[in-house]
Amino acid sequence: MPGLALIALTITVIYACRKYIAFRNAVRSVLDLPGYRVLFTQYSLVANLLPPIPGISPGSNHFFTDKYATFERTGWDISTVVAALPDAEPTVVLADAEAIKEVTSSRARFPKPVAMYEVLSLFGRNIVASEGEEWKKYRKISAPAFSDRNNKLVWDETVRIMIGLFDEVWKNAQTISVDHCVEITLPIALFVIGIAGECFGRRISWQEDVAIPPGHEMSFKDALHIVSTDIFIKMFTPEKLLGLTTKFRRIRRAFEELEMYMVEMIKERQTSEKVERHDLFTSLLEANTNDLDVTSLTESELIGNIFIFLLAGHEVVNVPKYSAEDTTLVAGNPNGEKLTVPIPKGAKIAINTPGLHYNPRYWKDPHTFKPSRFLEDWNKDAFLPFSAGARACLGRKFFETEGIAILTMLVSRYKISIKDDPKFAHETLEQRKKRVLATRNALTLTPLQVPLTFTRRA
Ligand code: HEM
Repeated sequence: MPGLALIALTITVIYACRKYIAFRNAVRSVLDLPGYRVLFTQYSLVANLLPPIPGISPGSNHFFTDKYATFERTGWDISTVVAALPDAEPTVVLADAEAIKEVTSSRARFPKPVAMYEVLSLFGRNIVASEGEEWKKYRKISAPAFSDRNNKLVWDETVRIMIGLFDEVWKNAQTISVDHCVEITLPIALFVIGIAGECFGRRISWQEDVAIPPGHEMSFKDALHIVSTDIFIKMFTPEKLLGLTTKFRRIRRAFEELEMYMVEMIKERQTSEKVERHDLFTSLLEANTNDLDVTSLTESELIGNIFIFLLAGHEVVNVPKYSAEDTTLVAGNPNGEKLTVPIPKGAKIAINTPGLHYNPRYWKDPHTFKPSRFLEDWNKDAFLPFSAGARACLGRKFFETEGIAILTMLVSRYKISIKDDPKFAHETLEQRKKRVLATRNALTLTPLQVPLTFTRRA
């Protein structure tokens, strides 16, 4: 027995030494540029389950919570994350507008690390989680549906949905309170993509949305919400364990339910009366043929892409890329100096949008809510909520049309404030901001709890 223990100990020590050497080499390969040095990456299950623990895990939401702080510590608009496990490799994190532009404008030099998007392919291959010829095919099939003509439909349908919310759901009441803003924003986003995108060929009304149709145990909206927030748990938990707790069973059920809904939507449209349409759902369905040519979609690709469009509209804090070659990137700092950083082939690159959007080099008082800043001159490369280049958001105009219609209708009729709660009566403004703006980063960024009150304007 002591002999076996000695062998196990020796193997562990050798493994640890090899990991340490690989880790040191990864740190050196990016010039020892400061940043996070941790055991597990932000993309690991550990980071998703545990809060940030120095040296162990940065947590899954550190890009959003840190904003520009890491760069301030680094002294440059570039920093690094080097994790020891599973494979020591550096992630180069960018908040420099010019370096980011170089990355987003060269798809061949800086492609998407498709393996990191595996979680998005749970229902099938799709436009977000693909690269090269495969991505080109999905983009070619989907892009024509995002035309100005269809955006007119987005506007009209969003207005109709908002009037439905005011008249049918809120019944034009003087005051309305919700415990969490997603109670309103999630159904609106779904209705618009479902109707205006004609994604699913049917109108979901506010009443229908709460109802659970025969054969289902969950509403469509609940299933989608659980899938988008708990997808990592489903991905990393062995099937057998998913039966153990009520929460796990609900997550497993949400995946089954969402798949059922998507299959039903496809069947419904396939059997409905043929009308000439130019919408997204038609484009995807027409590509789902039995021909095995390079322009067609298999059943699983069809479902995979529908899932992506249902999920669309959730915020993304980090756009990952990787370097396809040994190269360099140049980053600046507030003193106007430049630093050239070697980027080894295979290194991951994170376009850190919170870092960029709070970078004092581009934004005066970045922490102040001051929409009027966009009326002045501003650096168009320093504001990238929709990413940029060939892989930029396909739904940008769709969302901008939808968002403006929602906000103008809401704000012109209602004054919006934070819902009063005696529990928080004594909190300061700073504490309130912290509570209300707290987020969780699962697949996308989600606010934790934003309780709102809408008061009718005179
Ligand atoms: C607040 C609203 C939205 C934001 C902030 C947003 C942001 C983004 C970002 C940052 C990306 C790049 C992701 C990456 O490279 O990993 C992206 C890609 C994408 N978005 Fe959006 N998006 C929004 C709404 C929408 C909507 C409404 C749709 C569709 C109806 C949509 C469809 C897509 C598609 C298809 C891609 C992948 C494009 C490609 O790789 O070719 N997005 N979005």
